[in-house]
Amino acid sequence: MSVERRVLLRAAVCAVAVGAFAGMASAQETVKIGLIVPMTGGQASTGKQIDNAVKLYMQQHGDTVAGKKIEVILKDDAALPDNTKRLAQELIVNDKVSVIAGFGVTPAAFAAAPLATQAKVLQIVMAAGTSIITERSPYITRTSFTLGQSSIIIGDWAVKNGIKKVATLTSDYAPGHDALKFFKDHFVAGGGQIVEEVKVPLANPDFAPFLQRMKDSKPDAMFVFVPAGQGGNFMKQYAERGLDKSGIKVIGPGDVMDDDLLNGMGDSALGAVTAHMYSAAHPSQINKDFVAAYKKAYGQRPGFMAVGGYDGIHLLYEALKKTGGKADGDSLIAAVKGMAWESPRGPISIDPETRDIVQNIYIREVKKVDGELYNVEFATFEAVKDPGKTKK
Ligand code: PHB
Repeated sequence: MSVERRVLLRAAVCAVAVGAFAGMASAQETVKIGLIVPMTGGQASTGKQIDNAVKLYMQQHGDTVAGKKIEVILKDDAALPDNTKRLAQELIVNDKVSVIAGFGVTPAAFAAAPLATQAKVLQIVMAAGTSIITERSPYITRTSFTLGQSSIIIGDWAVKNGIKKVATLTSDYAPGHDALKFFKDHFVAGGGQIVEEVKVPLANPDFAPFLQRMKDSKPDAMFVFVPAGQGGNFMKQYAERGLDKSGIKVIGPGDVMDDDLLNGMGDSALGAVTAHMYSAAHPSQINKDFVAAYKKAYGQRPGFMAVGGYDGIHLLYEALKKTGGKADGDSLIAAVKGMAWESPRGPISIDPETRDIVQNIYIREVKKVDGELYNVEFATFEAVKDPGKTKK
């Protein structure tokens, strides 16, 4: 080998080594977040809302916190837990993410939980709502809601407002089972009667055959839980079967009246009373600003899933400030405990005992405001904890 070639070769080796070192240094300065949500399939609206909200938050607050650059790696699991598990594993092992977040449905949150425990990474549940999720790993925290929080409140409200007979229609998987159980715990205990109980499949539900049964059972109201994304189709079939005309009121947790779809539902949604943690019509300044910014960026209103994502990334930013940029699971989970802030939904906090969200639950009625349908809040229950944690 000529002298020139040897010099060149040495220079090249050096350059590679320097490059690798620089790469390592920048890797250390970056906190990677694996955001696993459904971007396709029946739950796609959840993923889109969360992705939109996370991007909006990062545009508003920058992508550097506590000296670390935040990098979000978005993955679509189509709400299928086998995908969630594989993606979480790849993100943790190959991409070396410090945090996994998202989880559009309960089975997805369950699938990732053992990996969070094993790898000791923080898992932020931004969407799923079954009570027991947070007990599946000591590294899980949640910024969404639980079905128990809203279902007990609408159960009490129904009793107090002269509703005596209720037919229930709930999605046949864990959050639907929670919604039904907590509603019945309060409604039946208060003297109410369940006259019909139907469970519909999660995937591509056809509500029509069930709606006829509901109508025939002549209830005063119908308690409905379907996950985000399905309310529009449900209300279309509800109107087509004439349930609105027969005076059967829709009540339930607010998922069925998601702001994302509400305005497209038409007047058959008017008068529906639901209990929930977020309405786009929540009258605080923070929410007005949030709704305006979201509409400007994406041309539509945010729904409750967007707020779960917005608060989830906020929680991570604040936790990183508290740990001085340390992103290991033990430091981050310790930092989130007891964290409190004002969200677009109102004041919220992370219960230091359970790592679950504590928040106001509002009772709302669908009304027309300036020609658009909104869930107008008319009663507030403050700082509601998940009832599933206290009642074993
Ligand atoms: C859930 O799967 O936990 C879930 C999904 C969507 C909702 C509520 C709960 O609207």
